[in-house]
Amino acid sequence: MKGTIPTVLMALLSSSPASAGPVQRRQETVTQTVTASAPSAPTPWTWNAGGSQTWPIHESCNATERALLKKGLDDAATLAAHAKDHVLRFGNSSDLFQKYFGMAPSAEVVGWYDKIANGDRSRFKFRCDNVDGNCVLPGWGGHWRGENGTDETVICPLSYTTRHPLEGMCGYGYTVARGALSFYFGSDLIHRLLHMPSVGEGAAEHFADSYAECLELAVKNPAEAVRNSHTLQYFALDVYAFDVAVPNEGCPGKPAEKEEEEEESHGHGSAAPTATTSSAPTATSAAAAECHTHSDGEVHCA
Ligand SMILES: *[C@@H]1O[C@H](CO)[C@@H](O)[C@H](O)[C@H]1NC(C)=O
Ligand SMILES: *[C@@H]1O[C@H](CO)[C@@H](O)[C@H](O)[C@H]1NC(C)=O
Ligand SMILES: *[C@@H]1O[C@H](CO)[C@@H](O)[C@H](O)[C@H]1NC(C)=O
Repeated sequence: MKGTIPTVLMALLSSSPASAGPVQRRQETVTQTVTASAPSAPTPWTWNAGGSQTWPIHESCNATERALLKKGLDDAATLAAHAKDHVLRFGNSSDLFQKYFGMAPSAEVVGWYDKIANGDRSRFKFRCDNVDGNCVLPGWGGHWRGENGTDETVICPLSYTTRHPLEGMCGYGYTVARGALSFYFGSDLIHRLLHMPSVGEGAAEHFADSYAECLELAVKNPAEAVRNSHTLQYFALDVYAFDVAVPNEGCPGKPAEKEEEEEESHGHGSAAPTATTSSAPTATSAAAAECHTHSDGEVHCA
């Protein structure tokens, strides 16, 4: 037995290289797996590769503009998402739905708001560099670039000092019937998003402008109302005010009388210009109407 202890030790010692064997083999196996599988493994397919849920804000925007623009775009998405939820919940039984869309089916409305709230954001861009020189025009808060960049919109410095945050809904004396569509940055940007061909598809357009005209369109032509950008803005503002901001009350307001309306729009022209009002506070309503005859719409009346 005395002689067997060294033998056992020897056996143990000599077995240690052997016991390292499996470790080495495992390592080899790992190495082989990586080496062998890398070229033959199919690249995992990402169906939405290249898509984005981040607001595309151009490098020309400074830190302040970037922060405020992101906030405004988030507000636009919040307004649109709630408008969609309201329609999904109530469909055409909603008084507000009937007010703005008449007897139209609800699906197209849901679609526009969903595109704004959740659609891909990689195909359009917001920039701040006044690349077309239009920001010098009095009252211009921004413009779609039209032929100079179809999926690009310029936001001018004026927007950052005049547009209000969604938290202020129904504040500052705002009412849906009398307030400018650009009073809240979020609703202003819904309009600007719809001008981007990848969002509005050239189908969401200008069919009626003022509050009164939009309500008229709901009765006369629901099929146009569901793709009228101003109607889509008004509805989103009205349901957000009523459902969320000031529950069960909102701030619908009363439409202005004809002459009064003109004064109103001039007043807003200087404080918070809209697509419905002319670019210059002193311009006549005829000029404002002319502004909308351009096929590139917003470009000449923002
Ligand atoms: C609402 O939609 C239903 C179909 O679901 C239709 O029968 C009805 O006429 C619509 N009502 C209004 C007011 O549009
Ligand atoms: C496009 O660019 C040209 C030349 O800079 C300019 O005159 C025109 O107003 C621009 N168009 C728009 C829609 O801004
Ligand atoms: C960023 O832009 C805003 C307006 O668009 C301007 O008021 C501000 O001075 C700019 N900030 C800097 C640091 O340049």
